[in-house]
Amino acid sequence: MTDQVIIFDTTLRDGEQALTASLSFHEKIQIALALERLGVDIIEAGFPVSSPGDFHSVQEIAKAVKNATVCGLSRAVEADIKACADALSVADHFRIHTFISTSDVHVQQKLRKDFSDVEAMAIHAVKYARQFTDDVEFSCEDAGRTPIDNLCRMVESAITAGATTVNIPDTVGYTLPDEFGGIISTLFNRVPNIDKAIISVHCHNDLGLAVANSMAAVQAGARQVECTVNGIGERAGNCSLEEVAMIMKTREQYLQVQTGIKHQEIARTSKLVSQLCNMPVQPNKAIVGANAFSHSSGIHQDGMLKASNTYEIMTPESVGISKTKLNLTSRSGRHVIKHRMESLGYQEDDYDLNSLYDKFLKLADKKGQVFDDDLEAILFDSQQKVVDDFYQLRYCSVQSGTGDFATASVKLTVGEQQQICSATGNGPVDALFQAIKQAVDIEFEVADYSISNKGEGEDGLGVANLVVSWQQRKFHGYGLETDIIQASANALLHTLNSIHRAQQVAQLKRDAQLQQVSKQL
Ligand code: KIV
Ligand code: ZN
Repeated sequence: MTDQVIIFDTTLRDGEQALTASLSFHEKIQIALALERLGVDIIEAGFPVSSPGDFHSVQEIAKAVKNATVCGLSRAVEADIKACADALSVADHFRIHTFISTSDVHVQQKLRKDFSDVEAMAIHAVKYARQFTDDVEFSCEDAGRTPIDNLCRMVESAITAGATTVNIPDTVGYTLPDEFGGIISTLFNRVPNIDKAIISVHCHNDLGLAVANSMAAVQAGARQVECTVNGIGERAGNCSLEEVAMIMKTREQYLQVQTGIKHQEIARTSKLVSQLCNMPVQPNKAIVGANAFSHSSGIHQDGMLKASNTYEIMTPESVGISKTKLNLTSRSGRHVIKHRMESLGYQEDDYDLNSLYDKFLKLADKKGQVFDDDLEAILFDSQQKVVDDFYQLRYCSVQSGTGDFATASVKLTVGEQQQICSATGNGPVDALFQAIKQAVDIEFEVADYSISNKGEGEDGLGVANLVVSWQQRKFHGYGLETDIIQASANALLHTLNSIHRAQQVAQLKRDAQLQQVSKQL
């Protein structure tokens, strides 16, 4: 009989906490909805007590997501657990995930406590969380390095206190597959109440073993795997969702387990997460890397032409990579675009056909042919535009040449006003950014900038990714255009609008505090 393995996605928590620039609220919602479409069972949406922004996004994700269970993280203290419950109570069903360290090094050096104190805190936290929901997960942080007697004792106590899922993290990615699988087997053999909870695993990838360790744990009886899209996460990352999901699908007969993941959604979700998180996927990454399904050697190509299963153990189509090439041009009508969007997996209410078609025509005029990737890129780009952006680019022009300074002129709408500015720089992008800087009232520094190609070789769209520092915070923006200067300008405008929204939130907070003070006077 095939067993079901629960997929617990922590892209928005463990993944997000490792990004250079945090995701905007709008981006988090977009990822949460994509995860739901992908079929994950649990979405860990954030760490509500960590900031008002995190609290708000966890709450909004809990409202927006209907089919997956939304979960929040908390340390084993009441304030954290209460913040989780408050943020999540808008959902019909939610999970509170509480954790405390159990390894000697963490207990003694980080927490400066005895193991018994830590055990008492864990028991109290689980009991307290159970007052808000009957779905409580408890994690033994650094379980991979915890003495096995202590680990068995902690797991038993957490289950007795009411934990319905107990998670065994290899927090520092230290264990080997047979060792980690052995820890899980030992728990099943020695913890008397183990059948009262789901055993989960959460592996980090410091030695490149996160997926192997998670699979060894599944073979030993774990029935929840915690993972992230593209394996993003602290340091070397977490267990990669697409890899574990495809292992369980491709080797289902051998493993006798399955997941609820809709595999055809994998490629699309991976692209979205990579783009929004500004985390490129390495070309040779299993399942979602650009080369994962390309065959280079003559012998392999010959084999593939004879029978694709000579060198492919799964098809690219099975993870949603379509090999069909579109031949859309400015002569293609609306119904063709609608039909193509349908075959790419988008329903009519996922996008606005008229505005997508207008953008498609503009692109087709510039490029001639428009491909699947381009179509997804313009859809994706228009979803990022928040109505009434404060800063809007009306015009830009840049001149540069060998041995010369570059000059740029820009025309921007800043709220209700128009600003026209020019500047020089040591290159075209520098000149452009200097000109925009003059037009806006924001003292920012460019922390990271890159240009890449999205789509078909020379015909691809230029993607500019930008990280900007403002008041010790980092903001990420991107722009997609046939012209890389225009793409760079869009990326900067994207970040500046996010900064503007952050300024407005800060102003609202100051106003509320002033009101509070004047009430007290
Ligand atoms: O790596 C870890 O131990 C964690 C826990 C909070 C589950 O992320
Ligand atoms: Zn982790």
